[in-house]
Amino acid sequence: MALQNGESSSDLLHSQAHIWNHIFSFINSMSLKCAIQLQIPDIIHRHGVPMLLSELVEALSINKERSHFVYRLMRILVHSGFFLKQTVSMTKGDGEGEEKEVYLLAPASRLLLKEETLSMRPFLLAMLDPILVDPWQHMSKWLQNDEDSCPFHTAHGRTFWDFAGQDPKLNRFFNEAMASDARLVTNVILKHSRGAFEGINSIVDVGGGTGIVAKSIAKVFPKLNCISFDLPHVVNGMEGSENLSYVGGDMFEAIPKADAVLVKWILHDWNDEECIKILKRCKEAIPSKKNGGKVMIIDMVVMKDRGEGDKSLETQFFFDMLMMALATGKERTEKEWKKLLVDDAGFSDYKITPILGLRSLIEVYP
Ligand SMILES: C[S@@+](CC[C@H](N)C(=O)[O-])C[C@H]1O[C@@H](n2cnc3c(N)ncnc32)[C@H](O)[C@@H]1O
Repeated sequence: MALQNGESSSDLLHSQAHIWNHIFSFINSMSLKCAIQLQIPDIIHRHGVPMLLSELVEALSINKERSHFVYRLMRILVHSGFFLKQTVSMTKGDGEGEEKEVYLLAPASRLLLKEETLSMRPFLLAMLDPILVDPWQHMSKWLQNDEDSCPFHTAHGRTFWDFAGQDPKLNRFFNEAMASDARLVTNVILKHSRGAFEGINSIVDVGGGTGIVAKSIAKVFPKLNCISFDLPHVVNGMEGSENLSYVGGDMFEAIPKADAVLVKWILHDWNDEECIKILKRCKEAIPSKKNGGKVMIIDMVVMKDRGEGDKSLETQFFFDMLMMALATGKERTEKEWKKLLVDDAGFSDYKITPILGLRSLIEVYP
């Protein structure tokens, strides 16, 4: 293609650079994954003071002949905001001064530390595992066929939930990933939205995974009866406590009765028809609005488009595409939530509280 009339070489080269940037965006994710696997944030954190490259390389468990490659890995991760680089003056053995570069953790890498209670490390390692990345290679094929429910199905010949039920390794690392997110979300909810749990005597966390959310609620509200409900292979062997129990089952068939039903990161996994079925089971599980019944949804509400370069919206679109690749679900705008909750599932009213960054708490009343 030759340059079009009026198109300058710089426009053409700008387009080329834009395409390159998008072709290679995955390098940001993969470089970060590599740093996490090598435990670079943990090593810098343990060092306690800004760390020289030579000290970092020494501490890394790598082939020392490859040490000189580490600078390049650190350079892209400084650029993408995971580490900070500073220049410090040091005194050499001969008494002369010299400038050296040292590395520190940027705020985002603190959330990737192994020992950090709210660490997102398990989530990162799960989402970038080949089992979850492979479906992207099959998206166009899936869009062309009419057999599989989603690209994950095309890639692996079964749904994600069936695979997790049959493969203990996938089941474990996916549950760990969800538990890490649950810890972070519960922390925020219990700090800023405690009122949402007042006035109810019981709550069931549907698709509650290994029970992190229910466990924390049970601890903070000892008089509240909490149930963590999930597929049998997820809750098998889990031990409850005085006001916490685990129940195995299928949310499409029946949900244990409680004053409130919590569905965190559940409805975005499913398409509208499937959500209507889940929401009907939720409605059957709770009392009327005047008797305190409600469903508490934690999911994204896709925000208004504020134009090119809006990172928050881009991240919501990433999740929406992720739901298309791995499951049958989607992220929903407020209009789509209203249609689903009120028009289709027959709830009377809802209240959106945007207290969770890119996600919101949506309280829904029968
Ligand atoms: C995306 S995870 C969310 C886990 C948890 N709510 C959280 O946010 O940390 C979806 C959960 O739904 C569960 N799930 C999938 N199908 C289910 C079903 N038919 N009945 C009950 N739980 C189901 C999965 O096992 C998984 O734990």
